Amino acid sequence: METPYTASGEVHVLPSHVEIPGLGLIPVNAFLLRGSEPLLVDTGVFAEREAFFATLCKLIDPADLRWLWLTHADPDHMGSVYQLLEAAPGLRVITTFIGAGKLTLYGALPMERLYLLNPEQSIDIGDRRLTAIKPPIYDAPETMGLLDSKSGALISAGCFGAVLSTLATDARQIPEDELAERQILWATVDAPWLSGVDRTHFANALNRIRALAPTQVLSSHLPIAPGMLERFLDTIARVPDQTPFVGPDQAAVQQMLAQAPP
Ligand SMILES: [Fe+2]
Ligand SMILES: [Fe+2]
Repeated sequence: METPYTASGEVHVLPSHVEIPGLGLIPVNAFLLRGSEPLLVDTGVFAEREAFFATLCKLIDPADLRWLWLTHADPDHMGSVYQLLEAAPGLRVITTFIGAGKLTLYGALPMERLYLLNPEQSIDIGDRRLTAIKPPIYDAPETMGLLDSKSGALISAGCFGAVLSTLATDARQIPEDELAERQILWATVDAPWLSGVDRTHFANALNRIRALAPTQVLSSHLPIAPGMLERFLDTIARVPDQTPFVGPDQAAVQQMLAQAPP
């Protein structure tokens, strides 16, 4: 885990990262939205769930959390879900039917701890309205980003993420061409199905995101990105023309290991 930082006002980033050998570093963010009914978006990487929970406790007493928005149930997003459910008896998990089903593969999850929402539906939580958004790029069927009415931020799940060469806390720090290249690389890794997507369908999906006009993009896999949506949409519009990523096979890995210094 890295040190949490503020995205804007009451929106905090809990950053971490994972490394893909040979490719680079993928930021992994969860977000805390303070307010009359505090909300956490995602719960970090499963392998570092203890560290995530300790970091969260420095920002807020978990018992004060009322809501968890789970963008999807992948192990880099659901890490501390069960610790959190125990520490915050009043907390409910906002996810889809499929997301809830996947969570039960990790442990029991009573219906009263869930709130099922589908894309384009909204929920009012205290002083903010959250609207579920299906991002144009995703890697799991249950994936839901959200638009937060109070901050105006779009939390996009893994969409707009990048495999970085060095970590940053603001995407504006990364040279434009390099960031575009690394976002495209990530998209070909995370969503290889995009190479076969219908172009009109994909363009329409991008336009729906454009129409939301968020104040900033908060991706699970990118530093904060104020005012960068238009650029990002242009970048990911190029993804369907790319070759999907295919990792090294066993022979390639053995060759790399043979060449590595002892
Ligand atoms: Fe994922
Ligand atoms: Fe992810």
